[in-house]
Amino acid sequence: MKKVLIDCDPGIDDALALALAAGSRDALDLVGVTTVGGNVDLPLTTANALALREFLELGDLPVTPGSAGALLRHTVRAGHIHGESGLGAVVLPAAVRKAAEGHAVDFIIDTLRAAPGEITLVAIGPLTNLALAVRKEPRVVEWARDLVIMGGSYTRGNHNPAAEFNMLADPEAAAIVFEAGWTVTMLGLDVTLTAVVNTAVLERMRPLGRLAELLVAGSQSYKAVTDDSGPAIHDACAVAYTLDPSLFTCVPAVVNVETAGLYTRGMTVTDFDLAGRRPNALVATALDVPRFWDLVIGAYGSLAAR
Ligand code: BDR
Ligand code: CA
Repeated sequence: MKKVLIDCDPGIDDALALALAAGSRDALDLVGVTTVGGNVDLPLTTANALALREFLELGDLPVTPGSAGALLRHTVRAGHIHGESGLGAVVLPAAVRKAAEGHAVDFIIDTLRAAPGEITLVAIGPLTNLALAVRKEPRVVEWARDLVIMGGSYTRGNHNPAAEFNMLADPEAAAIVFEAGWTVTMLGLDVTLTAVVNTAVLERMRPLGRLAELLVAGSQSYKAVTDDSGPAIHDACAVAYTLDPSLFTCVPAVVNVETAGLYTRGMTVTDFDLAGRRPNALVATALDVPRFWDLVIGAYGSLAAR
């Protein structure tokens, strides 16, 4: 059973990632969710995480709010994609129960300290909380079993031609995380843009009862679904990786995050030519899409059947 802590900014695809974790509880032990300002402001990402905890029946899972904004930069948001609330057309009942006391950064540090070598960090929003955790307690790098991020790309951006949203939203934080001494598993746009909800996938989601509400309405609300195109559920890739890394082809690389470029700020400059250097990243270069959807729809199905 893999222990996982998810740092997120829900976010429609964050919600689909949390649903994947919730549907995989025989393989994945979700030990906590921390929130960060990203797709929408922190009060909304936290409210969405809390509503999802109840909707997905995640019990007492601690949900701890963290950083509201980037370390240095002006706020960048993605409300034009995820809607004003962050969950597009999906309307979940407001949460009854409150967030945990304390700050995400301390929750991350304390949780890793209590179980060194056991917990995989999955970061699917801007990396502000993780960067602050590394700065406050550098031993988190040793304590984490693994760090898997949805973010970056070695081929293209999505927020602009060079930068992926999570990197652009806090490039300094991303640079701190990549330079911290661990090996970051980077699932970037290169692979996540192949995890597309097309009509065939949508048809597999429709019969999933109340869960379909979240999956179908969520997917449809940020890009039209067609036979060969549709929204990419980027963040679910990171949870899928923790469940079955063999879905992905990953290549060691040295990744540096551009923090100063006029046109390239937030770009993950990826060098596969190691030239004797220690790689600081394992970069995903391919995803087995049919097997990915079998895993994801299977997990959603078992959640819906509960
Ligand atoms: C990433 O940016 C956000 O809008 C999504 O939630 C995902 O984490 C994709 O670039
Ligand atoms: Ca996200």
